[in-house]
Amino acid sequence: MTPIVYFNGQYSPKDAVRISPEDRGFVFGDGIYEVIRSYDGNLFALDAHLARMYHGVCEVAINGADVEQVGEVAAELLRRNDLTTGDATVYVQITRGAAPRAHFFPDPAVPPTVYAQAGRFAPKGDPASGVATITVPDIRWARCDIKTVQLLPNVLANQRAHTAGVAEALFVRDGVVLEGSHSSLFFVFGKEVRTAPKTNYILPSITRDVVLELCRDHGIAVRETPVFAHELPRASEAFLAGTTVEVMPIVRIDGGAVGAGTPGPVTKRLQGLFRAHVKASRT
Ligand code: PDD
Repeated sequence: MTPIVYFNGQYSPKDAVRISPEDRGFVFGDGIYEVIRSYDGNLFALDAHLARMYHGVCEVAINGADVEQVGEVAAELLRRNDLTTGDATVYVQITRGAAPRAHFFPDPAVPPTVYAQAGRFAPKGDPASGVATITVPDIRWARCDIKTVQLLPNVLANQRAHTAGVAEALFVRDGVVLEGSHSSLFFVFGKEVRTAPKTNYILPSITRDVVLELCRDHGIAVRETPVFAHELPRASEAFLAGTTVEVMPIVRIDGGAVGAGTPGPVTKRLQGLFRAHVKASRT
């Protein structure tokens, strides 16, 4: 059965959606997106996702999209696709709309294209045993804080990970290990958790914020400070955080074991705290 999706104000079977070849998302990657996790029909951290989406459309000056309405659309897609139980994700994309190709914004302006779909989510990687990763040079632009659909550097990085048989590629810029191709990144040094500070060089990850809050609320020492590649051999633990990976231990980086090469105590504690937080946030 073809899923029901949302496209410019209408719900329709996915097969029936026709996106213009002149859509600026297709031609220029001129758009932004969100991925929201649903646990038994509860959209996790919905307000934070909407706030980030609002930040995105403002930063790239896409006007006329009703970001407020995205929460209702996401909930409706879960209902219409029978996804109100179990794990699901909702993908939402807003582009600058369809217009003859010109680098400057369409003049007169055209309505943005708004597309959303929901699907069953099957997690990758075993959170009990952790995953392996590689480091890659960060060749992204200088506005990684915007969740743009221009993901070619992320795609190329993740393909390198895929070819290497590992789960994620970790971006390194000017010697600093920043984040994964589709996840944020934490390390543990001794008893202290560390993650790159929020700058224009990382996505303001919602899961990252939740993890920071959990650390602060539960007396786990945490610091937002750059982690340099040369420090990695000293890290006792590392983990990914994100909508799709939740809290996922990293047990190898570039073939070398992280700490003992198994998920460490701080990571395991945060996994438990994260699961409890997800449970508590359900309505
Ligand atoms: N990616 N960093 C990058 C570059 C990301 O693409 C993502 C999420 C994250 C984690 O952010 P959050 O905690 O808000 O999910 C960090 C989504 C899931 C994706 O592109 O599929």
